[in-house]
Amino acid sequence: VDRKTRCTGDGTAASATPIDGLEDMERCLSEGLVPVSIYNDAAIFQAEQSRIFGRCWVFLGHESEIPNAGDFVLRKIGTDPVIVTRSSDRAINVLSNYCRHRGTEICRADRGNRSHFKCPYHGWVYSNTGAWVGAPHMNEAYGGKLDAKQWGLMRAPQVDVIHGLIFATLDPNAPPLRTYLGAACWMLEALFTLHPSGVRVVGPPDRILLKSDWKIPSDNFSGDDYHLESTHSSTEKIGVTRGFSQSCFIGHSFELGNGHNFVGHDAARTGAPLWGYPPDISSHFDLSRLDDVQRKMVTDTPPTVGTIFPNLSFIRSIGIAQPDRPPAIFTSLRLWQPVAPGLAEYWNWHLEWVFLAEDHADRAYEIGQYNVGAAGMIEQDDTAVWEGPAKASASPWLRAAGAKFHFQQGQPGPTEIPKDPSWNGPGTHRASGFGDYRQLEFYRHWLRLMRQPMR
Ligand code: FES
Ligand SMILES: [Fe+2]
Repeated sequence: VDRKTRCTGDGTAASATPIDGLEDMERCLSEGLVPVSIYNDAAIFQAEQSRIFGRCWVFLGHESEIPNAGDFVLRKIGTDPVIVTRSSDRAINVLSNYCRHRGTEICRADRGNRSHFKCPYHGWVYSNTGAWVGAPHMNEAYGGKLDAKQWGLMRAPQVDVIHGLIFATLDPNAPPLRTYLGAACWMLEALFTLHPSGVRVVGPPDRILLKSDWKIPSDNFSGDDYHLESTHSSTEKIGVTRGFSQSCFIGHSFELGNGHNFVGHDAARTGAPLWGYPPDISSHFDLSRLDDVQRKMVTDTPPTVGTIFPNLSFIRSIGIAQPDRPPAIFTSLRLWQPVAPGLAEYWNWHLEWVFLAEDHADRAYEIGQYNVGAAGMIEQDDTAVWEGPAKASASPWLRAAGAKFHFQQGQPGPTEIPKDPSWNGPGTHRASGFGDYRQLEFYRHWLRLMRQPMR
């Protein structure tokens, strides 16, 4: 991988070398097949860091996590640690957490409020805008001067916010965030502007190590309705959920391009228009700010899950209720953070509408945790099955045999689901949850980027 990477002399790297194992993948995808090798492979993982996480817009958190000047949270872009700060000018700064002196990680706290960060190794100090501001023994060590402009923390070249969601990209030449999101902008608007005050996070994000490649949950949340009946059958057996066996039959596919995909469900069949929000909440929503197609979508087929490429996923659903508690709607954002080949960290943020009182937010957190938290009824199922592909990917037997995974549901033939010819929204709509269209779209975009040479 990247064998012919050459240093351009200005610190950037360029490569025109194809990545081993991907030469044939386009043909595989056209046949609805995905090589097992891509889920647990050091070379692929390394290439993803530059080709996917080095140039995509990556989700870092929500504005409500850093409301005040000085607030910061520690996050990652790919495997690179970054400090996301709110400086006194209200700007959001995304700073490399590696000290410019000798590379020690400066900030060790997950969150806090600081105007400055002091490196624990030799004591260089940076402001929360990333500016270099000082070092111990300036006279003796540096003759009293050191060019501050040269030695500030590295800054993500582009940072932007949409509906409170903070994104950054390490690629200075990446298109603007809204261009990158494309039709997914339209979807995010439908999900997050039902009330003008928007949403906020409730509590800090959970983090769980997942013995899975980050692409598996990203592809699952693109709209894998097919797994619900099987993976989560235990919740139906004990009577806390129902209807998973119907998920594909009442599913609606929204393929938005650039690897972004969502799936919704027919509200007439679930009995849950607007996700099932009760009237005391939904009566506050103002759908007049949505276009006609968005309005119809959130009312008739509200999107339940989705993935914004590469690794941000969304879920909004009626939560399984504890036996003594009424059900409630929860919204979560989850990030499938690459850690190492076959290993990811799962981050999970619970969100609630700002206009709702604190007890609603507490309830949203509680029901979100009960369902998709670290020990959630649903998430325990998913995290168990998602380990398989990474293990299979490392199998010498499967590798030697050139094994492929099956994504052929909906290929031309009797199971093909036609595109909805009457769809007036962006992207493609299909009136079914069957078909691997969304997942294949995710992998097609992944392959496009993996094969695109670095500039
Ligand atoms: S490594 Fe940070 S001050 Fe030396
Ligand atoms: Fe699941």
